[in-house]
Amino acid sequence: MEDFFLTCPRGLEETTASQISKYIKNNPIIDNGGVSFKGDLTDMYMTNLYSRTGMHLLKKIISFKSVTTDEIYNNIYEYDWNTILDSNKTFFIKTKSNSVYYKNTNFITLKVKDAIVDKIRKQNGIRPSIDKINPDFIFFIIIKDDSIKVYIDSSGDPLFKRGYRTKIHKAALNESLAAGIIYLSNWDRVSPLYDIMCGSGTIPIEAAMMAYNIPPGVFRGKFAFQKWNDYNHSLWITTLCKAKEKININDNLEITGSDYFKKNIDLSLDSSKKIGINNIIFNRLDIKDFKPAHSSGTIIINPPYGIRVGEENTIKKLYKQLGDLFKKRCHGFDVYFFTGNLEAIKSIGLRSKRKIILKNGKIDCRLLYYPMMSGKFQ
Ligand SMILES: C[S@@+](CC[C@H](N)C(=O)[O-])C[C@H]1O[C@@H](n2cnc3c(N)ncnc32)[C@H](O)[C@@H]1O
Repeated sequence: MEDFFLTCPRGLEETTASQISKYIKNNPIIDNGGVSFKGDLTDMYMTNLYSRTGMHLLKKIISFKSVTTDEIYNNIYEYDWNTILDSNKTFFIKTKSNSVYYKNTNFITLKVKDAIVDKIRKQNGIRPSIDKINPDFIFFIIIKDDSIKVYIDSSGDPLFKRGYRTKIHKAALNESLAAGIIYLSNWDRVSPLYDIMCGSGTIPIEAAMMAYNIPPGVFRGKFAFQKWNDYNHSLWITTLCKAKEKININDNLEITGSDYFKKNIDLSLDSSKKIGINNIIFNRLDIKDFKPAHSSGTIIINPPYGIRVGEENTIKKLYKQLGDLFKKRCHGFDVYFFTGNLEAIKSIGLRSKRKIILKNGKIDCRLLYYPMMSGKFQ
């Protein structure tokens, strides 16, 4: 069994653990910024294919204790890098440190790179090269106090890159975070779901993928582990085929995405069609004209944050308009409101039943839950 660490957006660690636990043999353990577990090749393929909220699945290759960069160099040099890397392959290193001993992560990266290159050059006479853009192998160095762990990234591109985006909407949620928000909403995958500020359609598309059992990794085509020496092509293809057999498109499910920009609706339609989903209703609509077509369901929205200077008043007005809309027209709905504008939240004018802390990249965000069952909301 190998040691794995699956990274995820901050705040989604528990969701990530519970979502992947049905696809792997051992229980995942929650940590900061991800979950760890012991697993084999099948677990590695299953996690890459099925994790909706994970970002990178890392396999541990070395761990040791050290308090100096020379010790790091020596420990890394000791490892038999030929088992992973040939001289003609490229690699890249990412370092994260939470340690008083190692504050300069660039210097650690340089030391680790030197140790790998020196070792392979000594053994083979030729050194592998660094490639920042499209490396064959990515190594993660994760330092906590005096504990150094070296991982190899089995995913490559982060797992939120599902392969369905045609063009990028500048305020699009990353797909792993969008999936996490849907899990946190406890949406039952059968009742109507609305995103009335859908942008490029990430929330409706991720929701449909969950409801139809479409694995998030099935359209990616490319994972870093496919370049590894132990890559088992037939095991991967079998895993992929079995996953495809379980896809179950349900035409009775009603998921609706709307936005007031037509180009966003076109983008949403393009992306959903790319993965064979034709039954999400996407339409151009201003929130002022929104009226749900059902008497109950779930609304999940990610309105603009408006954190640029000069936008404060406009955004407060928009948040108030949304609060009024929920009060007046959305009785019977569970509303989930995801934003990074913590000040403008006050303008919604509703008391949330739950507030969940999440990070969108570096932005501190909240997912607010407003059950709009009936009557009094303030
Ligand atoms: C933060 S973006 C949503 C991004 C989306 N979650 C995604 O992943 O692509 C907010 C969206 O709200 C839309 N919007 C802003 N004001 C609106 C309004 N009055 N009515 C409808 N949509 C609006 C914008 O066009 C923008 O696409």
